[in-house]
Amino acid sequence: MADIHSEGFDDATQIKLKILKEYLKEWLPVFLRKKEKFWIDIFIYDFFAGEGFDTNGNPGSPIIILEELLKYQNGIKKENLNLKVILNDIDESKIKKLESVIRAKNFELDIKFLNQDFTVLFNEIYPEMVSNGNDRLPRFMFIDQYGVKYVTKDIFNKLAELKRTDFLFFISSHFVKRFSELTEFKKYIEISKADFDLTKPYQCHRVVFDYFKDMIPEHKELYLAPFSLQKENTSNVYGLIFGSHNLLGIEKFLKLAWKLDGNAGEANFNIDEAILEGQTFDLFNPDTRAKKLQFFEKELKEQIKEKKINTLKGIYTFAFNYGCLPIHANVVLKEMKEKGLIKKDIKLVSSSIHKLEGNIYLK
Ligand SMILES: C[S@@+](CC[C@H](N)C(=O)[O-])C[C@H]1O[C@@H](n2cnc3c(N)ncnc32)[C@H](O)[C@@H]1O
Repeated sequence: MADIHSEGFDDATQIKLKILKEYLKEWLPVFLRKKEKFWIDIFIYDFFAGEGFDTNGNPGSPIIILEELLKYQNGIKKENLNLKVILNDIDESKIKKLESVIRAKNFELDIKFLNQDFTVLFNEIYPEMVSNGNDRLPRFMFIDQYGVKYVTKDIFNKLAELKRTDFLFFISSHFVKRFSELTEFKKYIEISKADFDLTKPYQCHRVVFDYFKDMIPEHKELYLAPFSLQKENTSNVYGLIFGSHNLLGIEKFLKLAWKLDGNAGEANFNIDEAILEGQTFDLFNPDTRAKKLQFFEKELKEQIKEKKINTLKGIYTFAFNYGCLPIHANVVLKEMKEKGLIKKDIKLVSSSIHKLEGNIYLK
């Protein structure tokens, strides 16, 4: 595996880091400025932190995290918050380099530099994270692994237990497609070749995403969203998987994803065959939008007609689980209102779904 820090970050890496930065911008104020705080301790983990910069001086994840935090340094002090940043990398020389760069910047933050294997470290600190109500403390975890090995079923299930933890992990989904039949590989991820649509290799991250999504027990409140990444001039697809236990978390992530990808809200390329400007029109389907939106609207209508969803909050939650936004659901709801299929006076909203009462019925 090529060392990411021995060259300039490529375009897909830059987007990965942009997503990290933009999400942190949304996440931090929620936990740092909340009026009624039920916590003092807040944790941010960068488990595969690297050495800080690429060869062109572009900042990597730990620098991005710290620069975002810097904006809140005074607020953190004033509110007596105990914000802890944990930066880890297995490579001793990288973590030493990172430490010296950061110490020179004199950040007045509680930063721990660790030099451990991710799995060993995670399993070492996990019991403390789930004991004495600590599973309710706000945490953000960035798991920027090489390849696919580290976010196993066991680690994913552990993340699912941390009730106020948002996480973002990277995975080389095309490796899964390529090596899934190897016994050695099945130790890490149990997806078989048949799960992939070989005519759509560029959608392989969706298959990997579904594998993790299917792991979530039915009663658990955990929302996931994928973001596929492709390097310019290559066909290999990687991806991010975001997870949050909170409707506000998934809403913020999906808004960011749709800002980056106005066609499908989930890739840095045209993942879902939207008919792009200048391309041939499909005579058999005049709808030029991404297939995802077309399927979403169709399924949403069916769910409402069959009374499988009967509240407004249920509709928007369904949209998030589909990787769509309230504005996409509202297109369907407006049409159904006009046709008298749902209550005409129902007030549609497009944000802060977590605040919506669960008893607003559609009919
Ligand atoms: C994709 S790079 C991380 C890049 C970093 N997030 C950034 O933005 O600069 C992966 C890093 O994981 C480290 N690494 C590899 N195996 C590891 C392990 N088992 N545990 C922790 N770190 C590991 C590597 O040394 C490398 O710096």
